Amino acid sequence: MAPYPENFAHTLTACLRLSGTTTFFLSTKDCIAMNSSANLNIPEYVKHQRVKAWVAEIAALTQPDRIVWADGSQEEYDRLCAEMVASGTFIKLNPEKRKNCFLARSDPSDVARVEDRTFICSAKEEDAGPTNNWMAPQKMRETLNGLFEGSMRGRTMYVVPFSMGPLGSPIAHIGIEITDSPYVVVNMRIMTRMGRAVFDILGTDGAFVPCIHSVGAPLTPGEKDSPWPCNPTIKYIVHYPETREIWSYGSGYGGNALLGKKCFALRIASTMAHEEGWLAEHMLILGVESPTGEKTYVAGAFPSACGKTNFAMLIPPKAFNGWKVTMVGDDIAWIKPGKDGRFYAINPEAGCFGVAPNTSEKTNYNATAMLTENVIFTNVALTDDGDIWWEGMTKETPAHLIDWTGKDWTPEIARETGRKAAHPNSRFTVKADQCPSIDPRWEDPNGVPISAFLFGGRRATTIPLVYQAFNWNYGVYMAATLGSETTAAAFGVQGVVRRDPFAMLPFCGYHMGDYFNHWLNISNKVEFAPKFFYVNWFRTNEKGEFMWPGFGENMRVLRWIVDRARNRISAKETPLGWMPRYQDLNWTDLDIGEAAFDALTEVDIEAWKVELSEHKEWFDKLGEKMPKQLKLKRDLFEIRVNESKSTD
Ligand code: OXD
Ligand code: MN
Repeated sequence: MAPYPENFAHTLTACLRLSGTTTFFLSTKDCIAMNSSANLNIPEYVKHQRVKAWVAEIAALTQPDRIVWADGSQEEYDRLCAEMVASGTFIKLNPEKRKNCFLARSDPSDVARVEDRTFICSAKEEDAGPTNNWMAPQKMRETLNGLFEGSMRGRTMYVVPFSMGPLGSPIAHIGIEITDSPYVVVNMRIMTRMGRAVFDILGTDGAFVPCIHSVGAPLTPGEKDSPWPCNPTIKYIVHYPETREIWSYGSGYGGNALLGKKCFALRIASTMAHEEGWLAEHMLILGVESPTGEKTYVAGAFPSACGKTNFAMLIPPKAFNGWKVTMVGDDIAWIKPGKDGRFYAINPEAGCFGVAPNTSEKTNYNATAMLTENVIFTNVALTDDGDIWWEGMTKETPAHLIDWTGKDWTPEIARETGRKAAHPNSRFTVKADQCPSIDPRWEDPNGVPISAFLFGGRRATTIPLVYQAFNWNYGVYMAATLGSETTAAAFGVQGVVRRDPFAMLPFCGYHMGDYFNHWLNISNKVEFAPKFFYVNWFRTNEKGEFMWPGFGENMRVLRWIVDRARNRISAKETPLGWMPRYQDLNWTDLDIGEAAFDALTEVDIEAWKVELSEHKEWFDKLGEKMPKQLKLKRDLFEIRVNESKSTD
């Protein structure tokens, strides 16, 4: 399949400003003919005609001042960082505190993913489904062509080749991002395997996903640039699943702009996986190693703001002496059936783009250990001695900071105005292998074998600490009805249950009903299907206090999951699924008695009746394509619940 429509190159006529003040009017065909021209700066190692033609075509449309092909070298990274320090986009942090680290402050209008501006432009609306925004591809192309025309004027256009997954891995796929943001280039170098080696894999005609990104802020000659150029009013994050293209306009932030992440590795990859028989999931991957060296890998889906990064980097408590938890990935998993009848997963990313606030030595020691060097921080606060700070980082709050908007900040100002020092969605970008608990097989091109899938939301009531699905299809039901309570930081409102199936609501590139069907069917591709578990670290008591300590203590539950996945421990049957009994978990050094455990694992039948009616409403919203199999599962579940008594 061509990575972009065949006729596009021939219909487009645009102005390519090649250098300085000279302006030429060229058809795209002419641009393509010029692909050996120094102005396109095509390196001799690029032998791929379609890539050359496509770059020429996008250059003709966006009219940059110059074109740079990113080679991924350290020298290039250092140069771009230095240029961004000079332009005011980056602040170099005190090297004695944070070696080779930078702080960027975004425009206040550009601080997070923009779900309401994110589109799946499939040919048919019904293929995008009711959980995605849709626009007819032709109409969207017209809109975007208008916006992208001249959008890179006055700027450098970077061509950024990247591999999602270890270079050459049979599970990996390649993308090329064209961007006018040097901030994106350096972040992509951390988050992906980026640079010229990708062209060796692509050869003369390898497949790639074309990703086009513009901050949407062209400069007129002599106009002073802003430290964070973006378009404050117009943003589009667009996916064309049939042609496997991504077009992003107007934002320079995170998943809107680092197109390998949510756009490619989830939205486009989920449609590829659907067609090709694999899974592209919003899942962490971790390994649990026993004192005897037995290794079990699990993959876990958690909606945003549920402590996914902390869980991926968990350090077991002392009671688990000799046990190790290792991280393969903290956000995304690509999973393919292996020859031995098991699912194998890779982390398609090479770095972590983690939420900074509340990351501390106590909540995530491994993350803090990663952040001492070679990190890009975005929208955190700056200390007077050139270090960074965010809410929840230390017990003591510094007496003075420069906040994420560049203004003076003191604890008194915060008390009076409620202004945070770091933006709640402030981030760190860091190479995954800086994590002290990185798994030795994290770059294994064949992936790691998965024994269990975990799902977990933030739920104050109803969902017990942990339970296991009776079988695959019921596990799919469990994940399809995953819900999480909104946090004020992420959603502006607190405590409303938002259904987030498989934690994929904003990331599934096609109809959610088809996606559930794909999950139901794919178990046939493996002989040893992983087991499904639902966890909830966030149950609260009548005073609103968390009942479970969370963080490293989650190891107690994780060990039970490993034992269940390996079929070596019995469990209690409940209407929800299999659950541990008190004596099944290791309680050494933790003050949770049997009564507290009963409260944590209580099956509140009345609450479940309400929950099940919400599942019905949710399934009804998904319409015709909702698999009958899952509706039936719900009805059977309801019968089990109606026949049961609460366990308290
Ligand atoms: C993320 C998210 O940033 O899931 O990873 O929102
Ligand atoms: Mn995520």
